[in-house]
Amino acid sequence: MYRSHRCGDLRAQHIGEEVVLSGWIQKIRDKGFMVWADLRDRYGITQLIFDQERSTGELMELSRTLGREFVVQIKGTVIERESKNPDMPTGDIEILVAEMTVLNDAQTPPFTIEDETDGGEDLRMKYRYLDIRRNPVKNNLIFRHQVTNAVRNYLSAQDFVEVETPYLIKSTPEGARDFVVPSRMNEGQFYALPQSPQTFKQLLMVGGLDKYFQIVKCFRDEDLRADRQPEFTQIDCEMSFVTQEDILNTFEGLTRHLLKEINGVEVGAFPRMTFDDAMKRYGNDKPDIRFGMEFGELNDIAQHKEFNVFNAAELVVGIAVPGANTFTRKEIDKLIDWVKRPQIGAKGMVYVRCNEDGSFKSSVDKFYDQADLAAWAERTGAKAGDLICVLSGDLNATRAQMSALRMELAERLGLRKADEFAPLWVVDFPLLEWDEDTERYHAMHHPFTSPKPEQIELLKTDPGAVKANAYDLVLNGNEIGGGSIRIHDKATQAMMFDYLGFTPEEAKAQFGFLMNAFEYGAPPHGGIAFGLDRLVSILGGQETIRDFIAFPKNNSGRDVMIDAPAPIDPEQLEELSLALNLKE
Ligand code: AMO
Repeated sequence: MYRSHRCGDLRAQHIGEEVVLSGWIQKIRDKGFMVWADLRDRYGITQLIFDQERSTGELMELSRTLGREFVVQIKGTVIERESKNPDMPTGDIEILVAEMTVLNDAQTPPFTIEDETDGGEDLRMKYRYLDIRRNPVKNNLIFRHQVTNAVRNYLSAQDFVEVETPYLIKSTPEGARDFVVPSRMNEGQFYALPQSPQTFKQLLMVGGLDKYFQIVKCFRDEDLRADRQPEFTQIDCEMSFVTQEDILNTFEGLTRHLLKEINGVEVGAFPRMTFDDAMKRYGNDKPDIRFGMEFGELNDIAQHKEFNVFNAAELVVGIAVPGANTFTRKEIDKLIDWVKRPQIGAKGMVYVRCNEDGSFKSSVDKFYDQADLAAWAERTGAKAGDLICVLSGDLNATRAQMSALRMELAERLGLRKADEFAPLWVVDFPLLEWDEDTERYHAMHHPFTSPKPEQIELLKTDPGAVKANAYDLVLNGNEIGGGSIRIHDKATQAMMFDYLGFTPEEAKAQFGFLMNAFEYGAPPHGGIAFGLDRLVSILGGQETIRDFIAFPKNNSGRDVMIDAPAPIDPEQLEELSLALNLKE
């Protein structure tokens, strides 16, 4: 028996008991006549004591050979601590060790295994198994398990069936590049790893499964960020005989359940906002609505004077930053530098100070009088003590810049509170998105998304204006899920492929299986997929999904621990018929 208790279990009520514990040595203090060591396992820390008076000389010797992260098993008696530690659950007791077995020694770890570590990101990733011994990482993994469990239980109770779909498939178009896998048995041919199980879940609906879900790995070869990994996990769902309303209600239910069960937070009905509205009011299709600073479009009240920067702009837009009139000139100059960084790309920023006495002081006083500035304040909702920031330029670029500025200021002002949750449905996404590079339309969500039925005709005359039955679930400024009602008839699907520039032959070659399935009675269906990594990290009060993934990739897509990707043997290349291709 390795242990009778776990390292977090023992309390004053156990005093006098003989116990056996196993774990890692966290810390050792040698006072000569006494040695203390902290023994750690997943469940907590228990203090061990070796005492010259009460322990054998041999045991005292052995205690002095211990190093950090040695794995030991001890047998001893629970005794009352002389100086108790109220910050530790086990702080009332310690174990007077009678016997100890060193199960394994350990090299000194490359960083301290404590909540606050001295290890940089790269080092921690290289030794991720040591990082996982630290509470913040370990607790995140346990938290992820709890969320996953709650999701499984909730959906199962609602008659959803979890079905596994294949990983070695043919490309699914979700907008990113595919990871491909060469086939040894089919020379010169490749599988693609799924960007999502999209087509399979639709086929399961044709198969009559009615309600499907899967907690599933997806693979996308795209540029990485804090909220993106090349392999990530979706809670992928699909339902038959449903309208958009049914789906929104079902998954609002799931999200509300998670917020209650995991975070103890009750939220009311989720607000809904159209895509167009979100862009106009927040410059973004995933607005953080925990705080205000809504956009005020100023064109009609800022383009009547001699200020040519504004007059030449497609959009003049302002936000009222609460209480920010306290910003010094230097701080405002820094903010202007910030918006001019290449990552943001604004040409400059106009500002208006809203003074306590009701007057205004702006960086464009030469052009605008107090009445003009008062109108701007009204439009942006600025109050005395606020600072109005104004950007101008092309519509889309200016919205994106202002959105970035709004988020940055909210972060700086502490308005993005981790324990506050503001879910939001964004609905009525455009069906198609114009791509400047290829000069054609792409499906904004994916090519299986249904246009709003009443707008199908508009596809012929103004395709960019057609809206889809597509929706995103946004939580605290992050897109945590997205889905749509699907096309379920062959004619509409063929028409969509046509608009997206597929010839009938290409459509048949790539999606013939789906078109065939649509010949055999496809039910109306729709669904959604949540990004599990994102959901978990936001419920956990953070935004970096890496911290909630056991073995994540770095921003170059590398696993620095196992050192992947890596070259493969020439023989392996040969076997996969790749050697020749590489030389060509
Ligand atoms: P979509 O492409 O919107 O939809 O993806 C669904 C959700 O997955 C998460 N996500 C990611 N998370 C981490 N790293 C990534 N690289 C990454 N890419 C996406 C996001 C996103 O909202 N098949 C459709 C769903 C459907 O129509 O039912 C799909 O995959 O949180």
